[in-house]
Amino acid sequence: MKKQPRSSPRSSKSHRTVSIVGTGSYTPEKVLSNADLMRIVDTTDEWITTRTGIKERRIAAKDEQTSDMAAKAALKALEQAEVAPKDVDLILVATATPDMLFPATACFVQKKIGAKNAACLDISAACAGFLFGIEIAQQFITSHTHNTVLVIGAEKLSSITNWTDRNTCVLFGDGAGAAVLQHRGRAHGVISTHIGSDGQFTDILFMPGGGSRCPITKENAHMNLATIHMTGKEVYKQAVISMLNASKKALEQAGLTTEDIACVIPHQANLRIIEAIADRLKIPLERFYVNLDKYGNTSAAAVAMALDEANRTGRIKRGDYVLMVVFGGGLTWASTVVEW
Ligand code: ACO
Repeated sequence: MKKQPRSSPRSSKSHRTVSIVGTGSYTPEKVLSNADLMRIVDTTDEWITTRTGIKERRIAAKDEQTSDMAAKAALKALEQAEVAPKDVDLILVATATPDMLFPATACFVQKKIGAKNAACLDISAACAGFLFGIEIAQQFITSHTHNTVLVIGAEKLSSITNWTDRNTCVLFGDGAGAAVLQHRGRAHGVISTHIGSDGQFTDILFMPGGGSRCPITKENAHMNLATIHMTGKEVYKQAVISMLNASKKALEQAGLTTEDIACVIPHQANLRIIEAIADRLKIPLERFYVNLDKYGNTSAAAVAMALDEANRTGRIKRGDYVLMVVFGGGLTWASTVVEW
């Protein structure tokens, strides 16, 4: 018999559970393969494949903004949820590549999809942003302040990639994923969530230029400061530790064990990180949903795009317990257990 999760203290207090009622995603048309990258930097398909598992990634068109991709993913999610844009009352866009520093990319999305009754804000939690958004949505819905929340993870990482740095440029891609959250009277939905950060590691994954600390000027324009800087080995180590701990916390809070989980949807950064987590959690790799071979690391969009693919291909089915777990610059991490 299927194990019942522990009731969330939040939902039992308010008797309001939160479900993901629709998902959507969008990827740009242009494919950049490992072979294409070999023509740009000193690398090989063999190096990229064995170190990361990535075979190709998508690159947005020059005039395609983060909000364009976000809006396309959002409309698909709304269509699946059978929710009209005018009925959305909160739009959260998780992104490290906003259209502009302000206004929020969520405001551009609002205009593009016609969600005129929504409040809009962006979430800056790097690759962990989409699940931070799920947590915020769940809080707003369970506290009865909002009914329909659109959570989007969207990135145009190609716009902040240093295309001369082989250590980083092979890793990233562009895309968007979205989810609609509502209370629909089901017994379960989002069962547990966990979010966390550690500001001690702000210097292992960051973009130093383009903010108030270091604006881009004529003098520093040649220094590639408005691009991703990363200490790969340290990021790798911290990614495994934090995703492992976050997974355990969400499971414990839900009163479930790894055996109960039908599918794990992890951050799509590197296959070796996912293998290390599978090994330590003792969950067979086949139960992990992986699509990073096609899209690379799309930061805040990654888990949202993977969730939509898993949903639309039937990899996750109604009643399944799904664990999502992510990690990003900050450092930030987040996890959630959902009954699909
Ligand atoms: N092609 C060929 N050689 C390369 C490349 C490349 N693209 N990149 C680096 N190398 C070389 C290095 O120069 C180094 O050469 P050297 O030994 O002569 O100095 C050698 O390969 C080994 O480099 P390492 O950095 O030791 O390689 P490692 O096994 O650590 O793999 C990687 C690098 C893939 C970046 C790994 O550290 C990693 O995955 N880290 C986590 C990255 C990540 O997940 N980042 C994003 C997460 S957060 C977010 O999503 C924003």
